[in-house]
Amino acid sequence: MMMDNFDISPQSQPLKKIWAIGGGKGGVGKSLVSANVSICLALMGYKVVTVDLDLGGANLHTCLGIPIPSVTLSDLISKKISNVEDLLVPTPISNLKMISGAQDELGIANLKHMHKNEIIQSLHGLNADFVIFDLGAGTSFNTLDFFISADKGILVVLPEPTSIENTYRFIKSVFYRRLKMIEGILDIEPLIDEAMNAKLSSGQLSPSDLIRKITEMNPEVGHKIKADLAEFKPQLIMNQVRSQADIDIGYSIQSICRKYFGIDMSFPGYLDYDQSVWQSVRKRKPLLIEFPHSRLVNNFDRIVHRLLEQ
Ligand SMILES: Nc1ncnc2c1ncn2[C@@H]1O[C@H](COP(=O)(O)OP(=O)(O)O)[C@@H](O)[C@H]1O
Ligand SMILES: [Mg+2]
Repeated sequence: MMMDNFDISPQSQPLKKIWAIGGGKGGVGKSLVSANVSICLALMGYKVVTVDLDLGGANLHTCLGIPIPSVTLSDLISKKISNVEDLLVPTPISNLKMISGAQDELGIANLKHMHKNEIIQSLHGLNADFVIFDLGAGTSFNTLDFFISADKGILVVLPEPTSIENTYRFIKSVFYRRLKMIEGILDIEPLIDEAMNAKLSSGQLSPSDLIRKITEMNPEVGHKIKADLAEFKPQLIMNQVRSQADIDIGYSIQSICRKYFGIDMSFPGYLDYDQSVWQSVRKRKPLLIEFPHSRLVNNFDRIVHRLLEQ
């Protein structure tokens, strides 16, 4: 099927990019976004691998319209399979392959620190132009580390208080996990913990206050932290939008992130609430292929182009 929106030839030899799709909550559309961003990139001519990292609740295959693959990340975690390339399964889109998520809880329980780093490295080593990570809900260290390892971290949020709160919680968790990974900050860890436990808008030490304070105490560490955070540019996608007010929430989140965290968040776009989503899920067909004229095709097209421009 030809979609003229996607009739764009890839630039010569793009660098491989890892994009992680996260967000604090289940059911916000992470798998929908992962599947369809992957499809957009594949239709543009890029070689794409999409990886279901929702270890325990894997369902990316459904959004791609394929049955549960017989090889999954569980086989890599249990070391039944040693080469990550052997996990690749074809999808209905020719440039797009997928790696299915672990189907059992055991997968997560066994994912120890060393092993997790091995898995992250082998996923980064995949032969593709783009590798898309579909993350699980919550802020477990596994999920945060997959997110942090990516070149681009994309957050899917719904215009609902619970989802917005979870998004802040997720950003805050990534923020502090990144801080704690910076070398030579041991003497300021108590300060970080104090700031981490502060509530949003409580008048207590905010993350940007924290960095100011650290820089006064120890300019060298302060500089390191600022350099690290300058690279942390999460991308926000507002999903299931029904009005302009819903879209505007995206801009509010962006400005709160700047004020409170000192983080430069981008807002590449929104996705309309659209009946075609559940219709395609029910038919077990990829949305962009089943409904090439839905509004969501334009939504995804705009988002992917903006993500590629950065
Ligand atoms: N833009 C949308 N319009 C309509 N329904 C949507 C939209 N985005 C998501 N949904 C619904 O929400 C459900 C959950 O989406 P999913 O991608 O599985 O979330 P997650 O991976 O974050 O748990 C989908 O099955 C779909 O029915
Ligand atoms: Mg999912």
